[in-house]
Amino acid sequence: GAAELGPYRHYMQKEIFEQPRAIGDTLEGVEGITPELFGDGAYGVFKQIDRVLILACGTSYYSGCAAKYWLEAIARIPCDVEVASEYRYRTSVPSPRTLVVTISQSGETADTLAALRHAQGLGMTHTLTICNVATSAMVRECELAYITRAGVEIGVASTKAFTTQLAGLFLLTLALAQVRGQISEEQEAAHLKAMRHLPVALQAVLALEPQVISWAEDFARMDNALFLGRGLHYPIALEGALKLKEISYIHAEAYPAGELKHGPLALVTSAMPVVTVAPNDTLLEKLKSNMQEVRARGGVLYVLADADTRISSSEGIHVIRMPEHYGALSPILHVVPLQLLAYHTALAKGTDVDKPRNLAKSVTVE
Ligand code: G6P
Repeated sequence: GAAELGPYRHYMQKEIFEQPRAIGDTLEGVEGITPELFGDGAYGVFKQIDRVLILACGTSYYSGCAAKYWLEAIARIPCDVEVASEYRYRTSVPSPRTLVVTISQSGETADTLAALRHAQGLGMTHTLTICNVATSAMVRECELAYITRAGVEIGVASTKAFTTQLAGLFLLTLALAQVRGQISEEQEAAHLKAMRHLPVALQAVLALEPQVISWAEDFARMDNALFLGRGLHYPIALEGALKLKEISYIHAEAYPAGELKHGPLALVTSAMPVVTVAPNDTLLEKLKSNMQEVRARGGVLYVLADADTRISSSEGIHVIRMPEHYGALSPILHVVPLQLLAYHTALAKGTDVDKPRNLAKSVTVE
């Protein structure tokens, strides 16, 4: 059954390793890109909207932050992402031509449901949810839905729900790009092919676990950590820091790497490990100079590098090389070693991985 641990020590570990299956299931039956993947009438809705507003909490909020980069770059649609508990209580400027997108593993998070209702109350009737529970209030209350098939997630720290949300959000990006005439059939086919490769690609990333364990031994002795990313990978840095905080109780912060010099560089010493997500994208050269700034202050770098980046391990620089270069789908792969890092650091510290103190799996009251 879904709740069996099998060979795993914790649900979180099991759920991390289930990701190839979870993504495979989530994409099952997706023959091609069409708005109807999101429900009947989706084409008509997508035709009417000219902006996207994403509302979510916690890890689901970070998948929304990553999706903003896809939606604006690929579908060319303006996108705002907002923490649900903030949105519901502030005076914003509503537009009826907005697609309100909620993202939720449980579909029952009180703040996200309240934010959805708040948006509806402001006249925004076009709503879509990316949700892991088909019978949830969120799915009932939204006009359109994409159900992720992560399966039951038990570990409080979300893992497989996050990567399947990203898969659903990438499909949404492609469907909106199609309706808006921003993508050719060849590009669609290429993106779909890359998505179908995800289960195999994830398996290869999971095989990096022994290298991540050696990083975790260092992290278990630290009180703080900094996570850097740029662009599409800034939300992945945020998610990596959240995972470490939640289950290992190590204080972690994430920064877009370009902001390093505007504050956090003052904190960098040999006692502040710096995790850098370094895919081989256009910002790599800039990221390399950010890393030199860290080294110059005695900071130790832990770099998740792409297959074809030339960064290599040296004094104070620990590199884990990803098996491939993943292009637009890179966040789905780069987050996995960060999940494993949090897991193994918590294991080394002996904290309660599946039930971290003070936290709940689903926050159904405000
Ligand atoms: C809680 C959980 C998180 C989750 C967040 C949002 O804080 O501990 O793991 O990301 O709620 O939950 P949702 O079910 O709406 O995705």
